[in-house]
Amino acid sequence: MAKITVIGSFVMDMVATMDKYPDAGESVIGTSIAFYPGGKGANQCVAIKRLGGNVEMIGMLGNDANGRVFRDVLDKEGIKSDYVFECDTPTAVAQIQINSSGQNRICVIPSANFVFSEEHVDKIDEIIKESSLIVLQLEMVLPVIRKIIKRANAYNVKVLLNPAPAAALENETLSMVDYITPNETELSVLTGMSTSTDDEVIAAAKKLLNSGVGCVVATLGDRGALIVTDDYAEIIPGYKVNAVDTVAAGDSFNGAFAVALTEGKSLRDAVKFANAMGALTVLVKGAIPSMHTREEVEAFIRENEK
Ligand code: RIB
Repeated sequence: MAKITVIGSFVMDMVATMDKYPDAGESVIGTSIAFYPGGKGANQCVAIKRLGGNVEMIGMLGNDANGRVFRDVLDKEGIKSDYVFECDTPTAVAQIQINSSGQNRICVIPSANFVFSEEHVDKIDEIIKESSLIVLQLEMVLPVIRKIIKRANAYNVKVLLNPAPAAALENETLSMVDYITPNETELSVLTGMSTSTDDEVIAAAKKLLNSGVGCVVATLGDRGALIVTDDYAEIIPGYKVNAVDTVAAGDSFNGAFAVALTEGKSLRDAVKFANAMGALTVLVKGAIPSMHTREEVEAFIRENEK
């Protein structure tokens, strides 16, 4: 089975729910508070594993209680983690607000994730080389991301970059990325263009394609995702569900997309599968707890096709 390596973040999410977000200077009474393991890298890795992918996780944890929670998650999921390093800086934490529509606002304090350095990339050279697909996000420092992409490119290993949180990237790096999956905000930051309408999203995705990326899949929330390649542009519609917590919907989309790609599915089928995984994720609270299994995703697709 094709090997997928996720190199990315671990973040302990502190999630507060509330009817409406506080305005600047305002206090609101919330409805609940809970801690869930998350982080874009860990979320995507667990998604891949629950969908049956052959995945290894690489990243950095603190030598602390949150770090031990993540070690337990990796063990319980049966995820290979020989190169999950440990440092004296605390494991990352995020403060997340969720309103009554399930929408989220997230502030991540990167801590240990930013300790992962270019020297650590040297230690995982063999892992990069033996992978079929490297899955990356932007919750590590950019020089690390650039170096991993360069190494993967040198070994002809495909790269899927989820450019979140939003950051500008230079063409030299983008030209070595095979698949990129921005949401509308991230696409706007990457291209400097407005992405308020579908036509603007398509124009921005084409600009990104011109910077050398192999394929752009722009995620559009519950409207689905737009595929843009040299040959065509198409929106694959999403599934309408009642969201309770949208945290990690993008991550589950990316995990499912990675699995489908390595299984040789067409882009269209891969995005459809990823849309279904993303839709199921928003029905459950928490990041890692909301990752569904292959059986659940396939049953959901069948149910919606009736
Ligand atoms: O994409 C969702 C994730 O982003 C959350 O789990 C949070 O940790 C932040 O990294």
